[in-house]
Amino acid sequence: MLPPPGFTRAHGLAELLQQRRSVRAFEPVPLSLAQLGQLLWAAQGITAEGQLRTAPSAGAIYPLELYVVAGDVEGLPAGIYHYDPHGHRLQLVEAGDRRHALASAAVRQAWLATAPATVAFAAVEARTAAKYGSRSSRYVAIEVGAATENLFLQAEDLGLGTVDVGTFDDAAIARLLQLPNGVAPLLLMPVGLPR
Ligand SMILES: Cc1cc2nc3c(=O)[nH]c(=O)nc-3n(C[C@H](O)[C@H](O)[C@H](O)COP(=O)(O)O)c2cc1C
Repeated sequence: MLPPPGFTRAHGLAELLQQRRSVRAFEPVPLSLAQLGQLLWAAQGITAEGQLRTAPSAGAIYPLELYVVAGDVEGLPAGIYHYDPHGHRLQLVEAGDRRHALASAAVRQAWLATAPATVAFAAVEARTAAKYGSRSSRYVAIEVGAATENLFLQAEDLGLGTVDVGTFDDAAIARLLQLPNGVAPLLLMPVGLPR
């Protein structure tokens, strides 16, 4: 179980929008479990009626699945985890620090391994396609944009840095995260204290 999300904020929304910038260099300091939990909640946390979430979803179907490659998070053994929004908890996929494997799967972006943790966004497009057919890829792309921006702005408010990383080897990331069939990786967000 992750620490429950907090609802105080350090900055106003317009200030966060003004200061948001991609960060690709991180201090070698750990993330706290509360910070990681807050970021995951901002991206896909449950906020109402047992299923509605922080980010909108076509038909409230929620095709997104979030994973964490954790290397240096206080109180969390290094490993790959799946985020369960219903329990606001992490489920261990594989123990061990896999940040260098992550960086090599993200074609020539070695700096990725310096982030204490990376949140990986994946999607089960078939969930959305069952209702919306060929519009599903459009809807999933829109939804991951909303969820990742939520995380981005939450990171800014916590004084953390992040960046959207879309350049990676899909098959290598799917292997690393042990994604089940039908779950496709979409975006990586390394997070840490900006250097
Ligand atoms: C879909 C998408 C994919 C991106 N992929 C990468 C990437 O693989 N590596 C990287 O360093 N930055 C990546 N970026 C970040 C952009 O380079 C960055 O947003 C842009 O330079 C504007 O800078 P700003 O975010 O500080 O405003 C990506 C951004 C988006 C939206």
